[in-house]
Amino acid sequence: MARISTENFHQIKLGLVWVFNISWIWFWSAMSTLKEQLPWTLSPLIVNAPMAGFAGGKLASAVTLAGGLGMIGSLRSMDDLRKELGIAAEAFKDSPGLSASRVLPVGVGFLPFVLKLEDVLPVFDDYKPAVIWLFVPKDLDDYAEWVPAIRKASPESKIWIQLGSVAAALHVARIARPDVLCLQGADAGGHGFEKGASIVSLLPEVTDTLAAEGFSHIPLVASGGIVDGRGVAAALTLGAEGVVMGTRFLASKEVNVHPVYQAAVLEAQDGGQVTTRSKLFDQLRGPNIWPELYDGRGLVAQSHKDFANGMSLEEIQKLHNEAAAGEDKGYNTGLQGRAAIWAGTGVGLVKEVQSAGEIVQEVREGAKDVMARTAARLK
Ligand SMILES: Cc1cc2nc3c(=O)[nH]c(=O)nc-3n(C[C@H](O)[C@H](O)[C@H](O)COP(=O)(O)O)c2cc1C
Repeated sequence: MARISTENFHQIKLGLVWVFNISWIWFWSAMSTLKEQLPWTLSPLIVNAPMAGFAGGKLASAVTLAGGLGMIGSLRSMDDLRKELGIAAEAFKDSPGLSASRVLPVGVGFLPFVLKLEDVLPVFDDYKPAVIWLFVPKDLDDYAEWVPAIRKASPESKIWIQLGSVAAALHVARIARPDVLCLQGADAGGHGFEKGASIVSLLPEVTDTLAAEGFSHIPLVASGGIVDGRGVAAALTLGAEGVVMGTRFLASKEVNVHPVYQAAVLEAQDGGQVTTRSKLFDQLRGPNIWPELYDGRGLVAQSHKDFANGMSLEEIQKLHNEAAAGEDKGYNTGLQGRAAIWAGTGVGLVKEVQSAGEIVQEVREGAKDVMARTAARLK
């Protein structure tokens, strides 16, 4: 066996120190990207999903004040959106760090397939949100137009794009160069890719594919079925730098949700059994306007059971629209409702209504605790 001389030994040692330092610098710069983008946030990063009609300025500001990233959901009226942004801005008045921020420390979601870019852009004359989140264009190639236009209108905002497949992640990285990719697994509540995988396989495959194609600098955040610290710990282990939760925040005090909808979420157990992915949800009011690629996950409703038993779509729509005109808007507990109750497979773990700040703190601390306990089990 070749013997290592003292000089060689020192050279190897120096080499190892160099490799360690470079790895550490690389690790730190990769890990610090999101923190640099969102300096008020604490680690691990918890984000509330920009749930259209549910997540307004009140929820977004509460999440940001707790050290997360608060998001406002997409609205069709830009005046309504300005109102919600104003509510968030007002909530930061007594927090010198947040009110002095160059950008408004919340994100705003947009659903490009129902919006016109020229209607959206003027909002950024009044507010510069920290994050502009895009989900569901008519065609993924539309991002090649949307992203540069938004960057020009609000250069300091970061652009996050949510999607649900390896191919879409690579395509969007190439044509739009987003600041963050939000990977949505098939467990997610609300709309998502009709064909999908859970984040367990989606995240590592996207990570590897992006790295192989030179896009490893784009941070990934994960969503879909994450409702507590265990889910966050799993997502971080799979390669995410932060997590997005929708269903968990449906049981927050600040969310805009009908009380019967919230009661149905709290009551639901065994999420894989009581929720389903379906395009039927988008046909309940009338013709489905969502692009082909998408369906949605929600609680199995009476409408589904009727459809499975052979009732015509016209009859289902008629019963839905009659129920939706009532005080309870067609929502009901016991899986008896006719209207869509969007929720992910994690719904069975959502047991009580808490303030958004409590949720953020509990989930963040829970994740750290789980990761420490898991590491200890490996010793
Ligand atoms: C009630 C509800 C409404 C949603 N609305 C939107 C939306 O308007 N825009 C969007 O990008 N995602 C929306 N989503 C999907 C979320 O962005 C996110 O992917 C999802 O909530 C994550 O899964 P989880 O619900 O299991 O946490 C919605 C989700 C829910 C539950």
